[in-house]
Amino acid sequence: MLELSSISDLRSWTRAEHAAGRRIGLVPTMGFLHDGHLALVDEARRRADSVVLSIFVNPLQFGPAEDLTRYPRDLPRDRALASSRGVDLIFVPETSAMYPPGSEVRVIPGSIAARWEGAARPGHFSGVLTVVAKLFHLVEPDVACFGQKDIQQLTLIKRMVHDLDWPLEIVMVKTVRENDGLALSSRNAYLDPVDRQRAVVLSRALQAAHDAWRAGATRPPDLEARMRQELQREPAVAAEYIAMVDPERLAPVETVDALTIIAVAARVGGTRLIDNIALGEGIG
Ligand code: PAJ
Repeated sequence: MLELSSISDLRSWTRAEHAAGRRIGLVPTMGFLHDGHLALVDEARRRADSVVLSIFVNPLQFGPAEDLTRYPRDLPRDRALASSRGVDLIFVPETSAMYPPGSEVRVIPGSIAARWEGAARPGHFSGVLTVVAKLFHLVEPDVACFGQKDIQQLTLIKRMVHDLDWPLEIVMVKTVRENDGLALSSRNAYLDPVDRQRAVVLSRALQAAHDAWRAGATRPPDLEARMRQELQREPAVAAEYIAMVDPERLAPVETVDALTIIAVAARVGGTRLIDNIALGEGIG
């Protein structure tokens, strides 16, 4: 596995790959890799000849009161995991290479970013789209893989690629979960054992909504009541929002169907967690 941190070296590699007629698959991450990230790598492998994994904790997408400085990092472990999963190149740039002094132009998302995570984290999605746009330019991937876990991010990236006529395919990979249902996340590392147990209530609440829908419920307030009932079993878990939305624009729906996305955000101790399902699929 090759490791590069310089933008010009990366560009030379990309050009050589394309000149050799190889399809490039990109998996952008912030590192501290887990099986969710590695499922994206597997999907990229299936769809491309060469797989690039980027590891960059992007300061632009963290708010001033967020966890940028304590975000978990373990590059030696990430290297070993990426290499054993068949990644061809890891790109690990310094912040000063991605945002040299004077850098100020940003990608502005539209209305899809106004709600849910965007409302809770002002500027977050502009930071995400800016770094993803840069990575798309640097790697020129034919396909890029993103997780369902961050459904609003995925929806916005698809929108950006469509609106800016970018010639690449965006592939969604289903959320990878622990055995008890908790969605894998680098931020789960913040949870102490008690909070780790409590955190499973997010996926239980989503499962409860899925069960209620299969039993015939179609009104969002009914499904939400069922979810809140489940969430109240863990009083230390504070729900921030429960969203029942269409998959294109993530706008609230009046009646749910199999395509409806149900998303939840909650605080567990000091940690903010998110999860979602497509109603027709459940926890899967
Ligand atoms: P990060 O949180 O490291 O996630 C990288 C990719 O892994 C994202 O596409 C995310 O949706 C996916 N992912 C995370 N947990 C997952 C799980 N349990 N199952 C499947 N996929 C999962 O998301 C980011 O980084 C950043 O915002 C980034 C896109 C890299 C831009 O900085």
